[in-house]
Amino acid sequence: MFFTMVSSIKSFFNLNSIQQKHSLLKSLVLLGLVLFMLYTLLFSHHYQPPNLLAIHKQKRPVSRSVTNSPTNLSDIMFGIVGSVKTWKHKRSYVESWWRPNVTRGYVFLDREPSQEFLPWSSNSPPFRVNRNITKSKLYPKIVNPIQIRIVHTILETFREGDKDVKWYVMADDDTVLFIDNLVEVLAKYDHTKYFYIGENSECIRSNSDFSFDMAFGGAGYALSYALMEVLATKLDGCIERYPHLHSSDFILHACLADLGVALTHEKGFHQIDLRGDISGLLSAHNSDRPLVSLHHIDIIDPIFSSKNRSESVTHLMKAYKLDHSRLLQQTICYHRPSNWSFSISWGYSTHIYETIFPQSFLQKPLETFRPWMKYAKPPFYIFNTRGISNNPCETPHEFFFDSMEISSEDQIVTTYVRISPRQRNRSRCFSTGNHSADSITRIQVFSPAATPKKVSPNPNSNSLLLV
Ligand SMILES: *[C@@H]1O[C@H](CO)[C@@H](O)[C@H](O)[C@H]1NC(C)=O
Ligand SMILES: *[C@@H]1O[C@H](CO)[C@@H](O)[C@H](O)[C@H]1NC(C)=O
Ligand SMILES: *[C@@H]1O[C@H](CO)[C@@H](O)[C@H](O)[C@H]1NC(C)=O
Ligand SMILES: *[C@@H]1O[C@H](CO)[C@@H](O)[C@H](O)[C@H]1NC(C)=O
Ligand SMILES: *[C@@H]1O[C@H](CO)[C@@H](O)[C@H](O)[C@H]1NC(C)=O
Ligand SMILES: *[C@@H]1O[C@H](CO)[C@@H](O)[C@H](O)[C@H]1NC(C)=O
Repeated sequence: MFFTMVSSIKSFFNLNSIQQKHSLLKSLVLLGLVLFMLYTLLFSHHYQPPNLLAIHKQKRPVSRSVTNSPTNLSDIMFGIVGSVKTWKHKRSYVESWWRPNVTRGYVFLDREPSQEFLPWSSNSPPFRVNRNITKSKLYPKIVNPIQIRIVHTILETFREGDKDVKWYVMADDDTVLFIDNLVEVLAKYDHTKYFYIGENSECIRSNSDFSFDMAFGGAGYALSYALMEVLATKLDGCIERYPHLHSSDFILHACLADLGVALTHEKGFHQIDLRGDISGLLSAHNSDRPLVSLHHIDIIDPIFSSKNRSESVTHLMKAYKLDHSRLLQQTICYHRPSNWSFSISWGYSTHIYETIFPQSFLQKPLETFRPWMKYAKPPFYIFNTRGISNNPCETPHEFFFDSMEISSEDQIVTTYVRISPRQRNRSRCFSTGNHSADSITRIQVFSPAATPKKVSPNPNSNSLLLV
């Protein structure tokens, strides 16, 4: 159940050391540079190649925040892309994770907020208005000005000039961030090196249309301070080079690729390029990754079917606040006297199957959702799924997170209740006996309370009470 931190500092491609070690490589690099310059001279009208030499020469960036202390929340600067028109509906998603006077950052709007938002709420991030790009000389060439506004928000966040920042994290106004888990993830990486951290889409089609190695912005992504410092000097050049690109995320990906920086995939960021009911996915979130973000909250069905969208998010946050790294972590266990399998997604749901299924089967999300694009062809997803089946053995009894309490100093009790009878198939599963779970209405999960130092994570430390 616990997320254990793996201290994996990614080594960065270092041209210097390679040149010292291998003279052959050195000549190849030099030859490459000569060809590169020749190419630049010949083709500079069409394509302005990135200034690789400038980056190569750049010393370890002298950031204003060269400290070796572990990343904490105040080291992160958030830049949120919003718009005046949608703020009314989306501010509740931002306010669900924003901590006034604790989190640092801004929401960028397309124009001055209207009277209804004034005075600006102290529960929201302070607002800024994006630069008006219609006056830029490039404007006539730009295919999609809104996307340029979005990508430019990165620069505008940086140019606010806040001190002591280790990471810049960009997200949308319909992204729910789980910031304590985000801190745990970023703490694995060195902000003085070049890092672009995020995740691609759940849908194969979205990734093939853009790139499997592009961070989808709705899921949120993080740029290390060192990378941001370089990007700040290059991004306008990239926009100039690629005015025809019509996705802000792709412009950033293209720009960073030119700078030689690849995406570091972190699976806790969720673009949620899905439609309908995503409970199948949230009930089988692999237990090796903390939940960092959920996007498209406005498009999918409410994640708790008995609540509306903003209430659902608030409800999930209750469990999150009690034990953030445990949220949505999947645990599987068995009840031998009745031959049942349990799958628990902590703080969200519990499933009972009236038979014994292997872990590998239960770890595959039930395909309760649909892909983002209506006309995409299967296979839709970058992960395996289980289709919804008519077989009563494969159809779980579903229980959703209802309430929680701290029973003693070191026990958290989360309670999951049945919202409706099993829909698809009311008949029972006979394959491993005749043990119906129809009479179960509530499940309580007992877990050790979160401790600041997770010394000995024990995935089997949950116990269950069926009521
Ligand atoms: C977070 O880390 C910074 C140094 O990077 C330190 O100055 C600050 O006190 C820390 N804040 C908390 C709340 O620990
Ligand atoms: C944040 O701090 C300011 C100034 O210290 C204070 O006026 C405001 O009430 C605080 N807001 C919240 C939500 O705590
Ligand atoms: C941006 O500038 C143009 C031209 O000056 C103006 O028409 C437009 O209203 C401005 N947009 C915003 C959002 O202020
Ligand atoms: C969701 O439910 C809450 C509480 O019942 C209510 O205040 C809020 O207006 C509802 N939101 C929407 C978008 O319907
Ligand atoms: C559980 O399933 C096994 C294998 O099908 C069967 O032999 C056993 O009798 C079942 N146990 C109960 C309590 O039904
Ligand atoms: C299963 O058990 C129920 C009682 O719980 C009984 O009515 C039914 O006949 C049994 N079915 C089979 C196939 O054994």
